[in-house]
Amino acid sequence: MIKLSLSNLPVNQKLARNIYDQDGKLLLAKGILLEPRHIQQLLKKGLEEVFLWDEIPAQPLAQYESRAVRRPAELPAGMGTAVEAFREFMYSLSRGHIITCNQVEETVDLIYPEIMESNNILNQIRLLRQKDEYTMKHSVSVSVIAVKLGEHMGLKEKSLRNLAKAALLHDIGKARVSLELINKPAKLTDQEFKEMQQHPVHGFKIAQEMKLPNLEVFTAILQHHERFDGNGYPFRVLGRKLHIFSRIIAVADVFDALTSDRLYRKAMPLFDALDEVINNSIGHLDPAITRRLGAYVLNVIPGELVRLNDGSTASIVMVNRDEPQRPMVRKDNRFINLKEERELHIIDLL
Ligand SMILES: [Fe+2]
Repeated sequence: MIKLSLSNLPVNQKLARNIYDQDGKLLLAKGILLEPRHIQQLLKKGLEEVFLWDEIPAQPLAQYESRAVRRPAELPAGMGTAVEAFREFMYSLSRGHIITCNQVEETVDLIYPEIMESNNILNQIRLLRQKDEYTMKHSVSVSVIAVKLGEHMGLKEKSLRNLAKAALLHDIGKARVSLELINKPAKLTDQEFKEMQQHPVHGFKIAQEMKLPNLEVFTAILQHHERFDGNGYPFRVLGRKLHIFSRIIAVADVFDALTSDRLYRKAMPLFDALDEVINNSIGHLDPAITRRLGAYVLNVIPGELVRLNDGSTASIVMVNRDEPQRPMVRKDNRFINLKEERELHIIDLL
């Protein structure tokens, strides 16, 4: 029999002694195969160590061999085509041409079923990031994230399709901002920033020229940089006056921007970005929607492969809700609780 720390435990091990709480109530009976939920339960009760039989060889637990290995390696075809379609839109608009409502509808038709079919959009977002220009992939990514958020908030199909359209077009006004400014690899000057801040207005005008029939799409394009506390642009509209689409797209926009490589900074790891969106955007973003995003990610993340700061890979087994960036992971044949093993942390998803 050996005594081992709960924060770094071999998988597939049986408990060698009963475990009782402070009142003498049986928590776990000896002989039970220790699973991550048991480990979490014991850690919550303040226990740090358990007795295990040391002669049982560690075998992989099939259920934790995880979705990660079945993760598709390629971007769904519709999303890939949508990025190309969006490139065409931007090119046409920048040359003074107009795009049609039908072209946008066709692009929504490409991505909508793929978003609905996917329980875990994180992989699609990751694959989209491997595409080139930021604005193209970002527009499709924001659409994917916004629609998934809208679905989890209970929006119906007609609304979701319009939300997909609004999110896809949210930055369309950038087609009328100079490329030099869009691609500037350094911080913008005050004057340049003012010019950039006009892109929601340019986008609104483009939507008018297209004669888009959906008022909510216009509104969301115009309002996607407005902030909950009224400190956004271009009109400093306050919180609840903002259309629900604008608030959803604002969250999707910030989350995707933080987790993408930009010309002037590297992408932020997923959990740091989530923490930033939920905790550091208080006042800026709608907290009901940022919490929804957090809940969604925590729900789909178990099974994902991650890289740790020691260079090794691990898979996420269970998320610690109070410290989601430090979940329990499985590395080789051990369960490691990153909440306890503080010298290890996640660098990023693989
Ligand atoms: Fe924007």
